Amino acid sequence: MDCLNIQGGNRLRGVIPISGSKNAALPILAASILCEGETILRNVPELHDVQQMCALLGRLGVNVQRGQDGAVKLKVEDEMNCHAPYEQVSKMRASVCVMGPLLAKRRKAQVSMPGGCAIGDRPVSLHTRGLQALGGDFDLVNGDMVLRAKKLRGAEIFLGGAFGSTVTGTANVLMAATLADGRTVIESAACEPEIVDLAEFLNKCGARIEGHGTPRITVDGVASLHGTEHSVIADRIEAGTFAIATAVTNGETTLQGGRIDHLSAVVDCLRRVGVNIDKDEKGIAVSSARRLEPVDITTQPYPGFPTDLQAQTMVLLSLADGNSIITEKIFPDRFLHVGELNRMGAHLRKEGPTVIVQGVKKLVGAPVMASDLRASAALVLAGLIGKGRTTIHRVYHIDRGYENIEKKLTAVGADIQRATETQ
Ligand code: EPZ
Repeated sequence: MDCLNIQGGNRLRGVIPISGSKNAALPILAASILCEGETILRNVPELHDVQQMCALLGRLGVNVQRGQDGAVKLKVEDEMNCHAPYEQVSKMRASVCVMGPLLAKRRKAQVSMPGGCAIGDRPVSLHTRGLQALGGDFDLVNGDMVLRAKKLRGAEIFLGGAFGSTVTGTANVLMAATLADGRTVIESAACEPEIVDLAEFLNKCGARIEGHGTPRITVDGVASLHGTEHSVIADRIEAGTFAIATAVTNGETTLQGGRIDHLSAVVDCLRRVGVNIDKDEKGIAVSSARRLEPVDITTQPYPGFPTDLQAQTMVLLSLADGNSIITEKIFPDRFLHVGELNRMGAHLRKEGPTVIVQGVKKLVGAPVMASDLRASAALVLAGLIGKGRTTIHRVYHIDRGYENIEKKLTAVGADIQRATETQ
């Protein structure tokens, strides 16, 4: 297994290229199951999760090739296999995004129920309820969700749960509805930019979707979808992560290709903390004042503050001049980073879905353990500012969602190396 060794204290200066969005690429890759003919996707990040999705698509009869130019070409060649097995879904829960396309195009989907994960219980009942509303017959067979349908019919579907809407649930129902007979209205749909990108892709393939980006999406089913060419949007969570990395190191960077319009809640928070963050001709320009102000944040569905930047922001607020309160409304248990950050000198106290962050003057480097993807990114940020050396173990968590993170950070002055651990 790999680890990352970081010597803290260097300020980040220069240009950081932002890769394509993992959470847009994954459902769009799955949507290729719906298409007749070839699809070409550009700006697809080279990530472990993307490789996992491409491997699953290969098992489902989709020919997947990544060309020299980085473009991913996909073409359905065999529609026999409709099974996404446990060993696949348990490794990458976004594999669940093949469920809607398989049901709509092949009339059957058999997808392992994804288990829980580091950030908490991850139910998918909104997904299956939505697909049943479209006419899918659902059964749970030996841990697999099995859905069958002779023909899907448009329906009015409500996708709101106790924690707001569901992003991949909206993706699944949206994809299935494109080939259903008649009109589907999805109420309480997810508004994330990744859903908008998926809908734009599907409309290029001949789907008839309106209202994407709002809580009410309307889909008029069509007989078939053809392949198309599409470039995936920039990754807003990667951009937000590097904006915070710049702020904690009191640096000055440009996030090349970053979309500031996808980060309004984060921009609002960072500006209140004292970070200068603005759109510029290359993407997003970030710098920060030495003194950081405490702020309170609560994670919400888009356009609210993204849960995927909660851990990273906790590192920033750990260095603010006063106390902040972070409340996690999407995944109330998403605090695995708290214990590790406290080992680095942070003063964090968890009270249920809330963490009280008492600002400290500095963090100190330490050996730490990566856990979930974004908690691991937070440990990298802490290592960048922590006095002395930080070693982050189990770096595969980071490789799931960040393309060449150590190369990108080294290029702007960070002292960070990847090493292979013997044990
Ligand atoms: C997507 O996960 C993202 N992953 C997550 O990013 C992100 O944290 C999450 O949305 C929230 O923004 C991808 O897009 C691949 P949800 P998803 O269904 O779709 C509850 C990362 O780091 N819920 O929107 O699985 C659920 O428990 C990952 O890149 C139900 O109750 O999340 C959660 O509390 C981590 N019933 C809330 O809704 C359901 O049927 C939001 O979950 C489905 C979800």
